[in-house]
Amino acid sequence: MSHIRKIGVLTSGGDAPGMNAAIRAVVRTAMSEKLSVVGIGHGYQGLINKEFIPLYGHSVANIIQRGGTFLKTSRCPEFQTKEGLAQAYQNLQDEGVDALVVIGGDGTFRGALSLGSTYHYPIVGLPGTIDNDLFGTDYTIGYDTAINTVVEAVDKLRDTAGSHDNLFFVEVMGRDAGFIALNSGIGVGAEDILIPETVSDLDKLVAKLEYDQRKHKTSGIIIVAEGDELGGAKEVAEMVKERLPNYHMRVTILGHIQRGGSPTCADRVLASRLGYAGVKALLEGRSGVMIGQINNKIKETPFSKATKQHPQIQPEWLEVARVLAL
Ligand code: F6P
Repeated sequence: MSHIRKIGVLTSGGDAPGMNAAIRAVVRTAMSEKLSVVGIGHGYQGLINKEFIPLYGHSVANIIQRGGTFLKTSRCPEFQTKEGLAQAYQNLQDEGVDALVVIGGDGTFRGALSLGSTYHYPIVGLPGTIDNDLFGTDYTIGYDTAINTVVEAVDKLRDTAGSHDNLFFVEVMGRDAGFIALNSGIGVGAEDILIPETVSDLDKLVAKLEYDQRKHKTSGIIIVAEGDELGGAKEVAEMVKERLPNYHMRVTILGHIQRGGSPTCADRVLASRLGYAGVKALLEGRSGVMIGQINNKIKETPFSKATKQHPQIQPEWLEVARVLAL
């Protein structure tokens, strides 16, 4: 029999489409277990500032389809200090919150690991980030929506690129990870994809574009992950322009549009399953883990592993993009 009577839920770090669906799943699962639920506004900052919002089944009605996070989010350096952590724990005690579900990315889980291990506090995490860069889940909540947003935008750029014989360098999000670039790049049939996990070779890119020119391919799309070591789309375009002055080049930075929008069905389903499994895990006495999904099965991974190990990008998928772009 679990001692947990009241749980808290928060979203932290960059928002991701599907976070609302995850909150809904946590609240409704907790209700079905006769638990009380409190939402915490603005992530860890709200935990320090006592931003507690009582939640009921009806509080999460009509949010499964909405992007963003209705609880709001923040990045909170104060939570990384001893004092900030102690204040957050004290507030949880005062509010009678017995356990937490945190939804976010690696920064969120590092915070959860500190809170959980310093105070032996029950806490589980749900992977919510568009970057898909957490170990222990095939996909993170928000990633599918983000890549579909990129595909929709780049399809539009293709129309104008083709009409004007332009070569577009499109920058997508992913400070340290190339998953968005890789899979949206394959999805739009990009001429090339530059990601931080592999060494990007300017000579090879230039040679490919020269080859395209010889074959009278006059327009194209190069997807650049914001974290690529050659630079962002603007820097890469400038370097290429120096070598190939005849190309008409344009740069588009998709930016935060990738974090918004109504979640796809895949993200809603993932968020619902993980939210449900997170509450069950807490009630069954598990803590300090991220709840993920691998091969269609729920999988729990310790926070330390989820944040330290980086999921691998398969180099052959990049090769697929290159072969098909001929
Ligand atoms: O949420 C992850 C992410 O989208 C990264 O890909 C990106 O670099 C970062 O957030 C930007 O976030 P912000 O503008 O909120 O600092």
